[in-house]
Amino acid sequence: LQLLGGRVVAFLIFVLLASDSFSSSEPPCLRCGETSCYCSRLSLRKVPAAPSELVAELDLSYNRLVKVRENDFLTFPSLRSLFMNNNRIKTIHNKAFLPLIRLEKLDLSENELDMLSPEWFKNLFSLQFLNLLGNKYTTLDQGLLQPLKSLKSLYVGGAFLHSVRRRDFSGPVGLEELVFDGKNLQLYANGSLSEIGYISCVTLGLNYMFERNQTLVQDILTDVVHPNTSLILTDTVFSTEHQMLPLKTAFDLGVTSVTFKNVNMSLLASTAFLNLMSDSKVTKLAFEDVQFFLRSRSYPVTPKSVKSLDVLFLKNVNIAIFYHFKALSFLEHLLQIVRKATIVNSKLLVIPCETSAKLTNLEFLDVSGNILMDLSLQKMMCDGNGGPQNLKTINVSENFLQVINGKLFRKFKQLRHIDLSRNKLEKMPESCDWPASLQFLNLSSNILTKVTKCLPGSLRILDLSRNHLTVFSVELLNLTELYISGNKIGHFPDGSLFPHLLFLSIHNNDLQTFSRNDLDAYKKLESLEARGSSYVCSCDFVTFMNKDLMSHRVAVKGEFESYICDSPDAVRHKRVTDIKLSEFECHKALFVSLLCSWILALFLLSAGLCYKFSVVWYLRMTCAWLKAKRKPKLKKGLLKYDAFVSYSEMDSVWVEMHLVPALEQSEPQLRLCLHNRDFVPGGLIQDNIMDAIEKSRKTLFILSRHFVRSEWCKYELDYSHFRLFDQNDDAVVLILLEPIDKDKIPKRFCRLRNFMNSRTYLEWPYDHDQIPVFWQNLRAVIRPPDIVPEYHKDDDVDP
Ligand SMILES: *[C@@H]1O[C@H](CO)[C@@H](O)[C@H](O)[C@H]1NC(C)=O
Ligand SMILES: *[C@@H]1O[C@H](CO)[C@@H](O)[C@H](O)[C@H]1NC(C)=O
Ligand SMILES: *[C@@H]1O[C@H](CO)[C@@H](O)[C@H](O)[C@H]1NC(C)=O
Ligand SMILES: *[C@@H]1O[C@H](CO)[C@@H](O)[C@H](O)[C@H]1NC(C)=O
Ligand SMILES: *[C@@H]1O[C@H](CO)[C@@H](O)[C@H](O)[C@H]1NC(C)=O
Ligand SMILES: *[C@@H]1O[C@H](CO)[C@@H](O)[C@H](O)[C@H]1NC(C)=O
Ligand SMILES: *[C@@H]1O[C@H](CO)[C@@H](O)[C@H](O)[C@H]1NC(C)=O
Repeated sequence: LQLLGGRVVAFLIFVLLASDSFSSSEPPCLRCGETSCYCSRLSLRKVPAAPSELVAELDLSYNRLVKVRENDFLTFPSLRSLFMNNNRIKTIHNKAFLPLIRLEKLDLSENELDMLSPEWFKNLFSLQFLNLLGNKYTTLDQGLLQPLKSLKSLYVGGAFLHSVRRRDFSGPVGLEELVFDGKNLQLYANGSLSEIGYISCVTLGLNYMFERNQTLVQDILTDVVHPNTSLILTDTVFSTEHQMLPLKTAFDLGVTSVTFKNVNMSLLASTAFLNLMSDSKVTKLAFEDVQFFLRSRSYPVTPKSVKSLDVLFLKNVNIAIFYHFKALSFLEHLLQIVRKATIVNSKLLVIPCETSAKLTNLEFLDVSGNILMDLSLQKMMCDGNGGPQNLKTINVSENFLQVINGKLFRKFKQLRHIDLSRNKLEKMPESCDWPASLQFLNLSSNILTKVTKCLPGSLRILDLSRNHLTVFSVELLNLTELYISGNKIGHFPDGSLFPHLLFLSIHNNDLQTFSRNDLDAYKKLESLEARGSSYVCSCDFVTFMNKDLMSHRVAVKGEFESYICDSPDAVRHKRVTDIKLSEFECHKALFVSLLCSWILALFLLSAGLCYKFSVVWYLRMTCAWLKAKRKPKLKKGLLKYDAFVSYSEMDSVWVEMHLVPALEQSEPQLRLCLHNRDFVPGGLIQDNIMDAIEKSRKTLFILSRHFVRSEWCKYELDYSHFRLFDQNDDAVVLILLEPIDKDKIPKRFCRLRNFMNSRTYLEWPYDHDQIPVFWQNLRAVIRPPDIVPEYHKDDDVDP
């Protein structure tokens, strides 16, 4: 077994070692989507394995690849883009790219390739973009580009390239873009670049060649420049007039566009260039990332005019020493010729009125990204009394304007487009005097808080996005596009203010809802962008979004997922389209009101029932009874009164006039307890009643119709009735003041009815002669027990 185990281990080790030679053992890069892998900056040393055969884009830039091996791309048959720039690749196996027959883009720049092999590209019939810049090769291999018939962009050369031979560039036809870095070229075989034929855009990085070997520069220019070619001269220092001479060749060959990009240029050289250019066909001149410098203290003379020039483009243009900016006034001369001028990100402070008044050809002026302020713009526009009169478009975006001053432009009869975006505009004046021709106004990315009638009625497109607006309510009858996204607008603007609006962008505001009615108010609206995350996802809104809007005339462009609920809490941060509300949630108000009315009805019903069946009265009785039950009984000797008299207030006259004198003021004196005389003030009335009954030997009920209606009397009656039951003595005495029909006594006083049935009672006689007998009988009943009572017997009542 041990032996066998040893063999197994050895076999495993063998397999592990052997598998290392298969590229498929590489772990796949984890940053892969369905069809693309972004494996940039992962310090990879080897090409990772493909997660699937579908990968079309593989980015391996900024890693540590040194070698591309034969089988590295076997698993990538669908690859269309391969980026391997900024690695340390020294060698590429001749067969490495053979599987990549679909490859369209290949970037091998900034590596350490010291030779290029024609074998590599043999199968790359589809390749359109190839970048070989920044390597260590000194020559191109002949026939290298031969198979690349579809090539559109070729970036080639580098600091090490020293010779270009006759057939080096044969192969591609129909190249559109060539970037050639030959800064250290020593040998250029006449005609080799011309094999490519017409190229519309050529970028040359020839730097010191302009100084060292002008023949060579001329030869290259001769080969690449055709009529209508755009020529870009990059990464070069031009310091003398002499250096500019080879460019004469380009002008002679009909170049129409010249761009200096990433160039350092003395003012002397630039004036020389402009003089050379004066008779050329150049229509566009551009300076991008250009540093101008002065070689001597004197400013150069004004160059000759360049008649054909139409477009002047300056971007990131700088003068080395800022206070020499006046030296750039040679550009002033060009401004007077051109129709379109762009001076962006160039620290432009002002164009004086004297200059701008001469810019009569100018139709398009872009001075965005500079340091213009209100005053400088005012100067530039000659205070609204002149300036470039034929201007159609002016762009003052990204400067330091604080005030909207429409008046400055009012003399420009053709001005259609003003871009004042990304400034510091704070307040909109109540009215402004714009030119009548104005149709586009861009005020986005400022800090405006309010819109006023300053906005001209002639506007067709208005951009006020990313300000601090809370409402938008200015009538603009000709407006077709309105951009007010990124504000704090809380309500959908009234559509009737914009009868011609076709497009509304109002996303990322504080909108809580909008409805079909809101949209219908826009008579012509076709498209809407209103995504946001402050929506109140009510049933109406959700139903509207998920049903009605789909079929509405107004199209919401594929951004339904970006409508997010803010409330109710249960659906916060969820997409409106994902919300399914239940019947209950949708009709919550209805449910709640139904429930409330049910409860109310129930309450009323029970209240009615309580009233009908005197439930409250029974409860109080039960309570009183329980209380009485718990109370300790008093001893007979402690009795304080002979009788407690229970009577209705209405009968108090009888009690005071007849009863009290008859019983208390004649011998033997009886002690009576009367509620209005003997009750403890402040105590609970029921407690007082019970107390009085407890402390009295007898309880005297003065029965009358009033009595039956009196609440207290009912207590007294019932309490004494309990006591009666408890003690089983004859404590209750009934006196009938007037005849009472027993049927008229309410049902719940069944006890009283029973009493009247079961007890004898004394009747207050009609006959005055009978009164002394009545008192006698009463006294006999109340008197302490040692005296034998005498009853008056009533014949009408069954005992
Ligand atoms: C300039 O370039 C041409 C063409 O490559 C070459 O023949 C010539 O020797 C070069 N001259 C100098 C001075 O290097
Ligand atoms: C290169 O060819 C052009 C014409 O095609 C010719 O004018 C020029 O003199 C040649 N340059 C050299 C160095 O042979
Ligand atoms: C150059 O461009 C102009 C206008 O775009 C065109 O009319 C002319 O035919 C073009 N010339 C060549 C040689 O392509
Ligand atoms: C231009 O000059 C700046 C400094 O003045 C320098 O950093 C830059 O590399 C120069 N550009 C070229 C193309 O020489
Ligand atoms: C104005 O310049 C800004 C920034 O350069 C740019 O985004 C905008 O499109 C320009 N507007 C016009 C009308 O050219
Ligand atoms: C307004 O200007 C901003 C910033 O310069 C730009 O992004 C936007 O596209 C412009 N608006 C319109 C409608 O062109
Ligand atoms: C609106 O447009 C119409 C037709 O283009 C035009 O006649 C009218 O003058 C414009 N309104 C304003 C206020 O400019």
